[in-house]
Amino acid sequence: MTYKLINDNCFDWMKNREENSITAIVTDPPYGVKEYTEEELKKKRNASGGIWRIPPAFDGRKRSPLPRFSVINDSPLERDNVYNFFIDWGRLAFKVLVPGGHIFIASTPLLSDIVSRALRDAGLERRGEIVRVVKTFRGGDRPKGAEKEFSMTTVIPRGCWEPWGLYRKPLSERTVAKNLKRWKAGALHRKSIDTPFCDLIESGKTPQCERKISNHPSLKPQDFMRILVSAALPLQEGIILDPFCGGGSTIAAAEALGFNSIGVEQDKDFYQMAKNAVPKLSQLYPQSEKLLFEEG
Ligand SMILES: C[S@@+](CC[C@H](N)C(=O)[O-])C[C@H]1O[C@@H](n2cnc3c(N)ncnc32)[C@H](O)[C@@H]1O
Repeated sequence: MTYKLINDNCFDWMKNREENSITAIVTDPPYGVKEYTEEELKKKRNASGGIWRIPPAFDGRKRSPLPRFSVINDSPLERDNVYNFFIDWGRLAFKVLVPGGHIFIASTPLLSDIVSRALRDAGLERRGEIVRVVKTFRGGDRPKGAEKEFSMTTVIPRGCWEPWGLYRKPLSERTVAKNLKRWKAGALHRKSIDTPFCDLIESGKTPQCERKISNHPSLKPQDFMRILVSAALPLQEGIILDPFCGGGSTIAAAEALGFNSIGVEQDKDFYQMAKNAVPKLSQLYPQSEKLLFEEG
């Protein structure tokens, strides 16, 4: 086994972690900060309101609950909470990453600007944004209570993509090549010798067979996560950290590709879920390593 799962608050864990000891962070945090608090999870588990809501079944299919980020977006106080959470987190990420280490961090178009400002203020370099093409079922609704009157309007666009911010801890060496030699970090792994890593990735919903293994509400698909973890280790060596590891999709992807990884999850139920799921998710699609490097 090349991975470790830890049931802890990642802020505490990162505070105690050695400096310059993680090669890359690939993570999907609680975007709006509060949707994964004990209070909101309790409401979700009891199906008693709160930030989680069932998206409209416009095609007649039952949907799983999603957090409502538009609630957060409206209030300056909530925006400050998001900023403060991510600047504190960014400073810890800065500490544990090796110089040149990358962060891939999932977000939402409603909040990614705040996360970006916070991570830059924490000292990290913004290196771009990955567009994961996927229908998120967020947005696209008509004005509440006036759906017929304004039947040809939509309040915000229906989400068809998910932004993943790309950040890097500044290099300690004068050139990328020297940094790669010293820290095995500073660049991204290419898709193939002829094709660099690209920032637009066609993706889909997480397949049912993966959801059956790990029933986390934000489980990411293995095909997408395997592309990210591979890109995050330029020399295919080092340690991947997912400090918000949820149902374990990042750690399973790292394990499938034979990389060392560490996952931290504060919720006991999700931690247990990841413990059970990682060995099974990582064994799915045994050909994917070959495909990742041969497709180009
Ligand atoms: C968006 S989910 C991640 C889902 C994951 N990518 C997957 O595929 O299952 C965020 C996770 O972070 C956890 N979390 C929230 N705050 C945390 C903290 N301070 N430390 C560790 N885990 C935390 C939540 O319990 C939740 O499971």
